[in-house]
Amino acid sequence: MTINVLGYAGHSATAPLVPFRFERRDPRPDDVVIEVLYCGVCHSDIHSLRNDWGGATYPMVPGHEIVGRVARVGAEVTRFEPGDQVGVGCLVDSCQRCSSCAAGHEQYCAGMVVTYNGVDPKDGRPTYGGYSDTIVVNEKFVVKMPDGLDLKRAAPLLCAGITTWSPLRHWKVGPGTKLAVVGLGGLGHMALKLGKALGGHVTLITRSPGKGDDARRLGADRIVLSTDRAQMAAVRGQFDLIIDTVPNAHDLNPYLPTLATSGTLVLVGYLGPLEPALDSAPLVLGRKAVAGSLIGGLAETQELLDFCGAHGIVADVEMIGVADIDRAYERMLASDVKYRFVIDLASLRATAP
Ligand SMILES: NC(=O)c1ccc[n+]([C@@H]2O[C@H](COP(=O)([O-])OP(=O)(O)OC[C@H]3O[C@@H](n4cnc5c(N)ncnc54)[C@H](OP(=O)(O)O)[C@@H]3O)[C@@H](O)[C@H]2O)c1
Ligand SMILES: [Zn+2]
Ligand SMILES: [Zn+2]
Repeated sequence: MTINVLGYAGHSATAPLVPFRFERRDPRPDDVVIEVLYCGVCHSDIHSLRNDWGGATYPMVPGHEIVGRVARVGAEVTRFEPGDQVGVGCLVDSCQRCSSCAAGHEQYCAGMVVTYNGVDPKDGRPTYGGYSDTIVVNEKFVVKMPDGLDLKRAAPLLCAGITTWSPLRHWKVGPGTKLAVVGLGGLGHMALKLGKALGGHVTLITRSPGKGDDARRLGADRIVLSTDRAQMAAVRGQFDLIIDTVPNAHDLNPYLPTLATSGTLVLVGYLGPLEPALDSAPLVLGRKAVAGSLIGGLAETQELLDFCGAHGIVADVEMIGVADIDRAYERMLASDVKYRFVIDLASLRATAP
């Protein structure tokens, strides 16, 4: 017995997405069946579909910023019941035995299972993401959406939010911390909001001269145009932490001098070889570091959601129907998203014959 699901899938690295019927497993005793209401659109969806990172399998149903309502639960589920408002992010399983899992950092588990474009080791089935009407997930990988948040606008917390929250917390951003965020898209706008809410002094470093007003509204105290040498020179030695959300290969050397002594630039956007080569001199001479960070664990995702519930923090979103997805990707690639697209899955149900 399986569950029939309607999704929206890419069938190759270049094909536009189309409706796609597939089956999900019947719930295991510890599974939650979720009716998907909204799903955010992450730049990783584009990278994955286009096979930028290798390992793409098709048909691919992207989507890992999932918010929905519990439809039913397996017999051993204790944390959820039908009707609950829940979220699912980038992970749907992990080994539960390794040191990363024990530390609550399931995202660094060698056996972690990604929400889409992965394989469930328990049954060998491919995983399909949130551009679909229903998803079945082990309850350990389901989070509770706090009351009072607009669910449409909360969906991006499940990836853009946690991916910036995790380094903000790891590097202990708080009152007085000088934080810079590079790139104002989905991740960048959440980093501004969260960094500000944690008490940091927040600077946006952007290539786009037109984003200043939005950035201020989102929490930036200062805007620096990365293309303007004088503006970059003016922030030399300033930042305790830089969160770099740029999706493509780019030169990190202009950013390193803007770090304070012992500061860290953490890459969350780009995955791959750095070019041109990194000059180690600013690192050695100023005990500066370049680091990376991947999404966040389940406990810290719940911590983020509870923080956002308490502070009324949600994403700035543009709602779309599934049929608008290719246009949304084009706009993201042109750095023209304000500041996260979110799919209303009612539009997918409406395409069902
Ligand atoms: N580490 C993780 O766990 C994780 C999780 C989610 C996503 N990601 C990755 O993070 C990256 C950003 O995702 P997103 O959804 O925030 O993307 P997005 O909404 O498209 O925003 C990216 C922003 O980066 C800037 N940018 C784009 N191309 C650039 C370039 N060539 N040089 C300099 N700046 C550039 C633009 O901002 P300005 O106009 O302000 O310059 C753009 O709006 C993607 O690569 C995604 O795959 C990583
Ligand atoms: Zn993502
Ligand atoms: Zn593990």
